Amino acid sequence: MNTIVRQDLQRIYDALSERERAALRDSSVLITGCAGFLGFYLVQFLAAFRGSLGIRRIIGLDNFKTGFPLWLKRLADAREVELVGFNIVTDDISRVPGASEAAYILHMASIASPLFYRKYPIETLDANVEGLRRLLGYYHERPIRGFAFFSSSEVYGDPAPEWIPTPETYRGNVSCQGPRACYDEAKRFGETLCYLYHQKYAMPLRIIRPFNNYGPGMRLNDARVPADFARAVYEGRDIVMFSDGTPTRTFCYISDAVTGYLKVLLHKEYDTFNIGMDKPEISIRELAAIYCEAGREVFGYTGKASFSVSEDGEYLTNSPNRRCPVIAKARELLGYAPQVDVRQGVRLFLNFIRESSREELLW
Ligand SMILES: NC(=O)c1ccc[n+]([C@@H]2O[C@H](COP(=O)([O-])OP(=O)(O)OC[C@H]3O[C@@H](n4cnc5c(N)ncnc54)[C@H](O)[C@@H]3O)[C@@H](O)[C@H]2O)c1
Repeated sequence: MNTIVRQDLQRIYDALSERERAALRDSSVLITGCAGFLGFYLVQFLAAFRGSLGIRRIIGLDNFKTGFPLWLKRLADAREVELVGFNIVTDDISRVPGASEAAYILHMASIASPLFYRKYPIETLDANVEGLRRLLGYYHERPIRGFAFFSSSEVYGDPAPEWIPTPETYRGNVSCQGPRACYDEAKRFGETLCYLYHQKYAMPLRIIRPFNNYGPGMRLNDARVPADFARAVYEGRDIVMFSDGTPTRTFCYISDAVTGYLKVLLHKEYDTFNIGMDKPEISIRELAAIYCEAGREVFGYTGKASFSVSEDGEYLTNSPNRRCPVIAKARELLGYAPQVDVRQGVRLFLNFIRESSREELLW
């Protein structure tokens, strides 16, 4: 196993409390959208610690809309995960072996990269609304222990300045039409579905709002900024920014993010949590500089950061200028404490890339 992955999975394990680890005992876990970026660490974590955590089955569903990664093929071939080609919008969950016994469900199926969800807008909306509704319909009368819906920080849209950093109580400033609406509004409606199913059926639902993750498992051709920058460093090309570099974000390294997702899943009651990194809030231009510096260290990279205009005319439409979470609630109620600073995280990501083959990075 890649050295960085091994260390990160151990870090996730160490960050879970005894209660959280015990809560996974004798459970089957079903993950939709398991072949995506977040699936990389979530599935590998469950598989790696399956014995010590006492997990019975890991069932992964995906329609492979964004490709079939090698890491997942390896896990499926080794029977570490029961992988099923499955479209969450149209296929029948009752036909999936083991689905009826699942104790935990993680609904992650939904393209997350703006470039790709704009190519498949109806499919993206459907995965978060129709797909979610079908899952809720199937599980609402079953004795499950936890169901996590992966919403998004995009439910906040472009917050007014006084709402940055953004707490869970902010109601959002989102456009219901436009190139991002298929994603943002579908996540918002998905949250409403979760709220209603919890109200009506007392389902153990948990809502996660992830904020800008990066790190191992990102397809380098996925077109999200951290993947674009990593690919440029890997291929020895200049980093290209398709904005003026001034929009700001906080970036959450994937092991911290996955730790948070598991903590939300295993939380004892219905709730909604921002999961991300609260500092530092940096500009895209600063992020590019961090990649250049880490690239020099890890690869002897000699490229520089440059600017261009995206061929995608909608690249920047409705993209928020600032995005930064308040994570006080997750800190207090879940003991969530992200540890990896963005400089360290980018170095880890590039070291992961250095140890990987091209087919493990681009598919
Ligand atoms: N990565 C982040 O920073 C981030 C931020 C906010 C929200 N999220 C949410 O977390 C979840 C996972 O994100 P990710 O980065 O792994 O996304 P991703 O795009 O890398 O992977 C999504 C996976 O879902 C699958 N999928 C899409 N539609 C499907 C369908 N109808 N049936 C079955 N599978 C389907 C795709 O094939 C892909 O493997 C998504 O719901 C995303 O919206 C992620």
